[in-house]
Amino acid sequence: MNDKLFREVDLYIANLLAKENKDHVQVTETLTQEKIPNASISPNQGKLLQVLAQTCGAKNILEIGTLCGYSTLWMAEALPSDGRIISIEADAHHARLAKDNVRQCTRGHQIEIREGQALSILKQIEEEGLEPFDMIFIDADKPPYLEYFQWAIKLSRAGSIIVADNVIRGGKVLDAQSIDEKVIGVQRLNTWLSACTTITATIIQTVGVKEHDGMVIAVVK
Ligand code: SAH
Ligand code: DHB
Ligand code: MG
Repeated sequence: MNDKLFREVDLYIANLLAKENKDHVQVTETLTQEKIPNASISPNQGKLLQVLAQTCGAKNILEIGTLCGYSTLWMAEALPSDGRIISIEADAHHARLAKDNVRQCTRGHQIEIREGQALSILKQIEEEGLEPFDMIFIDADKPPYLEYFQWAIKLSRAGSIIVADNVIRGGKVLDAQSIDEKVIGVQRLNTWLSACTTITATIIQTVGVKEHDGMVIAVVK
């Protein structure tokens, strides 16, 4: 494969256009210190989320799956000064680390980490009337990806952007007989999207410093 080349080109782009600031670096250091596998998006993927956030004029962003807040920060940095992002995290340890980190970040006052299972927090958010979100980033557990996406549509407006990470999984989505629950989860979403008439969507493959994967990029009609 061209893994080495993809990695070098990814670093080339990041060095030009997706330089990390001290807040990004701090999140990654926390993951290393705490020996938590680094499932954060890459710098270039973070920059893509920023570009998309600005494309839809995002003032109200929702994220499902915080980990330590790396992607949260990239999106928060695209917000206007009166914008905010809510990020949902089920793991108590991850949520605490994310909260501790975010508090010290430049955009900390615009970030709210909500601890709990995504499906129950999403219901809470709807009950509180916090929608519509201009942008929603889905990056939590994979089996309920379709349910997360349906929630994202419900909490959106025409023109909102919905992004879902890890929907290609090194090409494992090609295996229709897969018994991997993560693969089955994203296949279920991808297939559903092909018949969904209320959004315009595509999937981009992602290669580089992270494993080969892909992101759904969708806009709500
Ligand atoms: N978006 C992050 C990476 C997220 S990794 C970034 O790019 O920086 C996936 C996260 O989803 C993990 O922290 C995991 O604990 C969380 N998660 C898993 N299942 C969840 C659920 N049911 N509800 C909310 N969060 C969940
Ligand atoms: C997994 C989850 C992620 O969000 C990611 O970016 C990479 C891998 C996983 O659960 O396998
Ligand atoms: Mg991911």
